[in-house]
Amino acid sequence: MNITFSKGLNRLICALVFSLILPLAGCDQQGDRSLSDSAEQQETQTLAVRLLEADLERGELLAYSCRACHTLGPDEDHIIGPNLYGVFDRAAGSVYGFDYSDVLLEVDFIWSPEILDEWLADSNGFLPGNNMRFAGFSSGADRADVIAYLLQVTMDPAL
Ligand code: HEC
Repeated sequence: MNITFSKGLNRLICALVFSLILPLAGCDQQGDRSLSDSAEQQETQTLAVRLLEADLERGELLAYSCRACHTLGPDEDHIIGPNLYGVFDRAAGSVYGFDYSDVLLEVDFIWSPEILDEWLADSNGFLPGNNMRFAGFSSGADRADVIAYLLQVTMDPAL
């Protein structure tokens, strides 16, 4: 099997997986949401409003794309990206033992749901030169679903 073939095969598998999983993930709440809000309205809604309508189960599915590079649980190892447990309220570029890009080391902000929303919309536009190779989610509803899920699983319940 040469490289071109396996790339093509990968794409095919991805396309199949996505065409099977996404409609399933979106079948109930998504349908209601698109009836009540046009795509344009969803994009202009603030994150707070989008979070109120967030679908946690869909967020869990979408977060599998993060898990390709990030662990989410306590005391888990960094992989391609840093472990994200406790990311909310943590200073950007501050996890011990992860080799960040210079740009992420130089910034001075705390991760909040709002900032993560901007990062996931377009991480390169938000912080040019960072090392996260991820296209992001153009849909504001998708970002809200993932953020709602991450708020649940990456926050220390004792805090
Ligand atoms: C292809 C791998 C990859 C994917 C997929 C990916 N990330 Fe990342 N992520 C990275 C890398 C690498 C960094 C470090 C970037 C740097 O140092 O510039 C990073 C950094 C981050 C940071 C900054 C963490 C910190 O400590 O400052 C956040 C937050 C983040 N990613 C969230 C996500 C979320 C949420 C998803 C899924 C929606 C995701 N990432 C998908 C590779 C990825």
